[in-house]
Amino acid sequence: MPYERELSHEVFEKFQELIYHEIGINLSEHKRTLVQTRLRKWLIKFELNNYDELYEIIENDKSDQMLIMLVNAITTNVTSFFREDSQWIYLLENIDNMFDKENKRIRIWSAACSSGEEPYSILMFLKEHLKDFYEWDIKILATDISENMLLHAQTGIYEEKAVENMPKHMKYKYFNPAVGKKGSKAFAIKDELKKYITFRSFNLVTGNYTIFKNKFDVVFCRNVMIYFDRQTQDQLLSELTRLLKKGSMVFVGHSESIQNKKLNYRLVSPSIYKLK
Ligand SMILES: C[S@@+](CC[C@H](N)C(=O)[O-])C[C@H]1O[C@@H](n2cnc3c(N)ncnc32)[C@H](O)[C@@H]1O
Repeated sequence: MPYERELSHEVFEKFQELIYHEIGINLSEHKRTLVQTRLRKWLIKFELNNYDELYEIIENDKSDQMLIMLVNAITTNVTSFFREDSQWIYLLENIDNMFDKENKRIRIWSAACSSGEEPYSILMFLKEHLKDFYEWDIKILATDISENMLLHAQTGIYEEKAVENMPKHMKYKYFNPAVGKKGSKAFAIKDELKKYITFRSFNLVTGNYTIFKNKFDVVFCRNVMIYFDRQTQDQLLSELTRLLKKGSMVFVGHSESIQNKKLNYRLVSPSIYKLK
């Protein structure tokens, strides 16, 4: 079926607005060709005549999954186990003073957890380095906007490449042998790790932050703010201040930073902020 090849300026503007309001991503005009290239495949797949028809489908999809597929097409889900070395070193140096020793409670949020490597790394880290691990009440909340990513995270099966840099003893301690895509060798996270993690869908831009009843000791909000404009970042960081205890930490990606001084975060190490 012939289809309109060009994403017009007018229709691109509609996509820009939708993406900004629903996801907080500010797509500039120079991304028009990229969006057009990525969406052309969808016109063929859904047998549509033009980009406007596609826009209508995405806008009217009540499940929001079309919108999320769109976000996935323009952003990345790239993640890895123990990403950002220096942050794990900081955690190791400070682990004895970071958590509530009196109540022996740890609450950590991996906001934008993608396929789960981040929350599983946090848990493996705690298991390796927290004294009396079993005496602590530990809960990790792992959220993402993408149901597909959450499904992968919950399944917890990773291709060999994803764990290639992990020390051998950890691979055998925390994973079972599994079969990956196309029969490849893979590694499945053991159930005893999974039980500490709750996976949920949450949109950091439009989500209702009042659903969180408890405060967090640490929030990992890494490599997602990079997609948001300054105003959206500030709004998200301001919501976080209400969910953190005084002295709690926020870990961001190495190319992200907290600019707004009014928000009361203090940089304590590269890409690590403490709430004053
Ligand atoms: C590059 S990954 C980051 C994964 C992990 N935090 C890390 O640093 O390795 C970005 C993730 O942000 C998610 N994301 C994008 N926009 C989001 C939003 N508005 N709310 C929640 N998650 C979002 C994407 O689905 C993706 O999984």
